[in-house]
Amino acid sequence: MAEELKIDPSLDRASAYRLLLPQVAALIENEPDWIANLANTAAAIKSTFDFLWVGFYQVIGDRLVLGPFQGPIACTRIRKGEGVCGQAWAERKTLCVPDVDQFPGHIACSSESRSEIVVPLIYEDRVIALLDIDSSQLSDFSEIDQAYLEQLVTRLCQQYAD
Ligand code: SME
Repeated sequence: MAEELKIDPSLDRASAYRLLLPQVAALIENEPDWIANLANTAAAIKSTFDFLWVGFYQVIGDRLVLGPFQGPIACTRIRKGEGVCGQAWAERKTLCVPDVDQFPGHIACSSESRSEIVVPLIYEDRVIALLDIDSSQLSDFSEIDQAYLEQLVTRLCQQYAD
């Protein structure tokens, strides 16, 4: 396993993602433990882009339950349809929110959060978890983030075993 990520901080975001994805794949490829892989993935994204909060919510029964994350403390349980995460779960699709204050029902875990992207992890046709990223900048996420983060969670899900 690599001891540190090799990503030049001056790179534009797409170039950074192009370097990040294979390094995350290398980090997780020989590790069967799901939580260990979620934890290292959250740390890798956070240290590459320095977003406010990067983490996972796992689907456990009828709730999303807080999983491995990097950043300030966060709410632990979210219902289906509630907030950005609950809605991404219900709709089974990525939600990109340029201004969280304009999103009805947004759950404010941190007053510093301004924009957010939530990407579902789908395994055998069911949502098993969500990747949630908060930024302190308005409109910080675009289709570039969406495309690379969807690739990243697809790779993570290949590692998932019931
Ligand atoms: N803002 C999210 C809740 C989770 S925190 O951002 C970590 C939401 O509205 O679902």
